[in-house]
Amino acid sequence: MKRIHVKANGRDFEHEVEPRTLLVHYLRETLNLTGTMVGCNTSNCGACTILLDGESVKSCTMFAVQADGREITTVQGLAENGNWHPMQTAFHEQHGLQCGYCTPGMIMASISLLEENPDPSEEEIRDGLEGNYCRCTGYENIIKAVQQAAGQTS
Ligand code: FES
Ligand code: FES
Repeated sequence: MKRIHVKANGRDFEHEVEPRTLLVHYLRETLNLTGTMVGCNTSNCGACTILLDGESVKSCTMFAVQADGREITTVQGLAENGNWHPMQTAFHEQHGLQCGYCTPGMIMASISLLEENPDPSEEEIRDGLEGNYCRCTGYENIIKAVQQAAGQTS
């Protein structure tokens, strides 16, 4: 076991974790941040995407011990004072989801995408989200949601 300290969604946590524990399992099972989803556990689907020190990562691709001393944001840490993050609003208004399973990861990846490129073309949005799979929507409304959050739609 190793003791780790993380800041997750603005709160400090300290726990003993097994070296083999994946970060996504630590988030869901120890911190109860179950908004972060597990789709594949093999780094393909992107459902587990979070921000680690502001950069999007698939949280099934790293161990919890690798997050020691770092800052984590999950989908549950986006809203402020009861108000959704603009990306959450955009997914809602553009109907960028159906079953919703991919949505937490999509939203986190989309936020990271706009931080790196605030005015992306449609092709750049599609490229930026290629690591996140959606089985339901056909992606069209997801693209529109990212465009709305980027201020590209009225
Ligand atoms: S659960 Fe992490 S990429 Fe699918
Ligand atoms: S909304 Fe169902 S997987 Fe994307």
